[in-house]
Amino acid sequence: MILEKIQELLQRVDALQATTAEEIENLRIQYLSKKGELNALMNEFRNVPAEQKKEVGIRINELKQKAFDKINSLRDALGSSSDSDSDLDIPRTAYPIRLGTRHPLTLVKNEIIDIFSRLGFSLAEGPEIEDDWHVFSSMNFADDHPARDMQDTFFVEKDVALRTHTSSVQIRCLEKETVPVRKIFPGRVFRNEAISARAHCMFHQVEGLYVDKNVSFKDLKQVLLYFAEEMFGPDTKIRLRPSYFPFTEPSAEMDVTCSICGGKGCNICKNSGWVEILGCGMVDPNVLKNCNIDPSVYSGYAFGMGIERISMLKYNTNDIRLYFDNDVRFLSQFKNA
Ligand code: DAH
Repeated sequence: MILEKIQELLQRVDALQATTAEEIENLRIQYLSKKGELNALMNEFRNVPAEQKKEVGIRINELKQKAFDKINSLRDALGSSSDSDSDLDIPRTAYPIRLGTRHPLTLVKNEIIDIFSRLGFSLAEGPEIEDDWHVFSSMNFADDHPARDMQDTFFVEKDVALRTHTSSVQIRCLEKETVPVRKIFPGRVFRNEAISARAHCMFHQVEGLYVDKNVSFKDLKQVLLYFAEEMFGPDTKIRLRPSYFPFTEPSAEMDVTCSICGGKGCNICKNSGWVEILGCGMVDPNVLKNCNIDPSVYSGYAFGMGIERISMLKYNTNDIRLYFDNDVRFLSQFKNA
């Protein structure tokens, strides 16, 4: 019944015609506004039996997209046929507004959240302006660690800085929650870097943390493998290389097979077939102690990744600055990504 209605609406949307801005605005109201046909359909959707919800949902989304596209294309057609100055119509209604698209970083962030939520990770956030304790000291950074230098960190005042990583939210979370904890922390981070195609002074990270009894490195590895396969495709392989971070022991960096060349070698992976995407490891006992958690009873793993990096790999973009330039020609490409 509802499927027939969707079919009928699809045909109607397909055949829509308009020659003036008012007509287009009326179509927008008729189909896309709060009281429009599509919203009415969404109300009916509530009563669709559970087993049909998936199919009907997909069809409604198709219809929605088609209606947006159609009304936008009518508007485009009108725009291009009335370019000359003599058509300038100052009191003309501003509608229909061209619909925006989600920023590629939001799309990738949402996908990361989605993947980890399927594994039982929930979400938390922390402040961007942080004290030394949460960014460095509690995370086991030595007093003379170079990251504490003004060269690398933007200080707001003594012992208060823009966070350089979202790992600080681990501490905020462990301080106030009881273990077990299984969370991811997305957010913006800031570093005193010269802006180039590969680096920016502001970017986005997602940190992950799991603390419980008997958490081991193999749990970490399995979760990261699942993430890589979901994000980059089922044939993706991972490899973990030993590394060092003050807040994890042992620590590793994870590479995935290059999704651009499938591991054969290209300029993105510098012909190695592998690209590094994150840092990870077992939470250092000192970090647990700093949060009053007994490391002889509890253990945990943590990982942190840059959202820009994941997005650049996924969409084969080669300049991080594109993500901050607000150029619609770049941003609008990610509509259906
Ligand atoms: N905080 C690190 C960075 O910003 C990333 C990271 C590495 C996070 C290892 C972790 C980890 O949780 O275990 O580069």
